[in-house]
Amino acid sequence: MRHASVTMQQLISLMFISLAVAFASVPPEIASEIREYVIGVGVECIAEVGASNDDISKIIKHQLPETEKGKCFVACVYKKMNILNRSGKIDKTSWYAILDELKSFDYDTYKTIRPMADRCLATVTNSHDECETATNLLGCMFHESKCDIPNGEKCIFDF
Ligand SMILES: *[C@@H]1O[C@H](CO)[C@@H](O)[C@H](O)[C@H]1NC(C)=O
Repeated sequence: MRHASVTMQQLISLMFISLAVAFASVPPEIASEIREYVIGVGVECIAEVGASNDDISKIIKHQLPETEKGKCFVACVYKKMNILNRSGKIDKTSWYAILDELKSFDYDTYKTIRPMADRCLATVTNSHDECETATNLLGCMFHESKCDIPNGEKCIFDF
């Protein structure tokens, strides 16, 4: 179970979505473990990068950060999750390892997320600036999940 929950934590961070998870098969105690984990990484990255409340609340509302610190906050979280590697480049191997584990853990969620991830990995390219790369990935995932539409009822993830 520990292994599976780490996978879910990574997945949440990969999507950078939600704290109250919309995943059907996640038991409440794992959901709360994920919540604590994501908050912990977020707090570390706020401190490391110096992101503002405004930067963070935008992301929580599924809007993309516009400030440098907001963008670098996303990169910080993604790097801690190995979604970007230590050089700030997209780590496809790690994405697919997470997705493969999700497949056995929660197949319905996997079926929803896999095509989004495939499209984002196919379209988002590495920038020389890891903060741009991370924000472009986040934007793609928001877009693919229809979470970037204001009051979007189609957004599959919620806070
Ligand atoms: C990160 O990924 C890039 C592109 O795949 C690769 O060239 C680089 O060596 C990787 N860096 C590390 C630290 O793994």
